[in-house]
Amino acid sequence: MQEISRRSLLLGGLAAAGTGALVACSNPPGAAPSTFARPARLQPVAGQRVVEHQLTAKATSLDLGGTTVDTWAFGDSAPGPLIRATAGDMLRIQVDNQLPTDTSVHWHGIALRNVADGVPGLTQDPIAAGSSYLYEFTAPDPGTYFYHPHVGVQLDRGLYAPLIIDDRQEPGNYDLEWVVVLDDWLDGTGRTPDDVLADLTGTAGGSSDSMGGMDMGGMSMGGDPPFGDAGDVTYPHYLINGRVPTAPDVLRAKPGQRVRLRVINAGSDTIFTVALGGHRLTVTDTDGFAVQPRDTGAFYIGMGERYDATVTLGEGVFPLVAAPYGKEGQAMALIRTGSGAAPDPAVHPAELDAPILQGADLRPSDASRLSARDPDSTQMVHLSGQMMPYRWAINGAPYGKNDALLINEGDRVRLDLMNMTQMTHPMHIHGHTFALQSGLRKDTVLVKPMSSLAVDLQADNPGNWMTHCHNIYHAEAGMMVAMNYRT
Ligand code: C2O
Ligand code: CU
Repeated sequence: MQEISRRSLLLGGLAAAGTGALVACSNPPGAAPSTFARPARLQPVAGQRVVEHQLTAKATSLDLGGTTVDTWAFGDSAPGPLIRATAGDMLRIQVDNQLPTDTSVHWHGIALRNVADGVPGLTQDPIAAGSSYLYEFTAPDPGTYFYHPHVGVQLDRGLYAPLIIDDRQEPGNYDLEWVVVLDDWLDGTGRTPDDVLADLTGTAGGSSDSMGGMDMGGMSMGGDPPFGDAGDVTYPHYLINGRVPTAPDVLRAKPGQRVRLRVINAGSDTIFTVALGGHRLTVTDTDGFAVQPRDTGAFYIGMGERYDATVTLGEGVFPLVAAPYGKEGQAMALIRTGSGAAPDPAVHPAELDAPILQGADLRPSDASRLSARDPDSTQMVHLSGQMMPYRWAINGAPYGKNDALLINEGDRVRLDLMNMTQMTHPMHIHGHTFALQSGLRKDTVLVKPMSSLAVDLQADNPGNWMTHCHNIYHAEAGMMVAMNYRT
């Protein structure tokens, strides 16, 4: 037993060493070129449907609505292509890397087989420039998910897209659906996410604008409740479905129709507050699991979180606004059910000034609950770090230097998320959906400054899984840790 856990610690350390935490050098010179075998091909079981897609990650230019940017994307749009399947289907997705550097694809929120999780150094080798990779997995749970690379700060380019898993037993209590992808955008506006990370971490060489992209206000600790200081980077644009507010995406519908919104925060450094002007929203799901329906005028959504809400539409033209928490500007899209002029791109719906739902206050539906059980083990996940110098860590050390959490298959595992910093961190765990103490199921949860949160998960998906802050700059500056099953 002693021998085995020492061995997995060593293996964990080796795996981490291959990741090359910072900037776009995920395969440092001298590292073994290949350490992971390609996963065994997955064969569908009898009757299982296979959903196939081909994705090309490439440099392209995008029109955000009057502003054209050079960036990287899956194909020629951001968000990239919607992938849609039904719970229980097998997905078979070929990724062709035409970027000038390594990449990978992570299927955020899906309880998939570990080898398809898309984390270089932990579950696969990076997909080298000019090569391709086949992801095959079964998607067991319905819900709203998304996919993005797990290399460097590539998420903050245009490399993100929705992944929707439909429910075979969907009650379908709505007429139409709208996938709403939020993003904070700076790539191709004179700097790249790699420039911003280098500025933040102080590794930029000879930059005349070494503070470019850093929100100096973020250095004065504090900020407004409930999340305090929630972001480090100032963005020139906030997008809904890839569009700026002056040239918004538009959903056309009829008055009285019920719409299911599937809202995904694909931003890298921004919590948003979402409201539909003139309407109440009924939040029905978060992170792929049903909640007790809850009415609200507006809700917060952290990076990596998803919320589904239904709404019965009035007649007219209505702004769907996503306001960046603690930052200037906003994202906006429109729902049009009648004639009328579009609202001003800077419109401020009254719903944003009324009480705003915090996801952690939702309650799980009965079917979403984890069975009641005391934890078999408790793992400390101690978050530390600060803006100056820009260093973030879990359990006292940045990723690559910290020890993997080690858990046993079959255990009920409690993670004690302890945030010892002045910032809010959206903490995400791969391959599992944990339960808050209220029973609410989440895979990404906002942990407020100087506070702690205990979450429980059932260790039913063996492998090596990443646990990290979904602020991509924090993650790349060290705020990640592996959670490995003992073998
Ligand atoms: Cu969107 Cu490691 O996650
Ligand atoms: Cu963070």
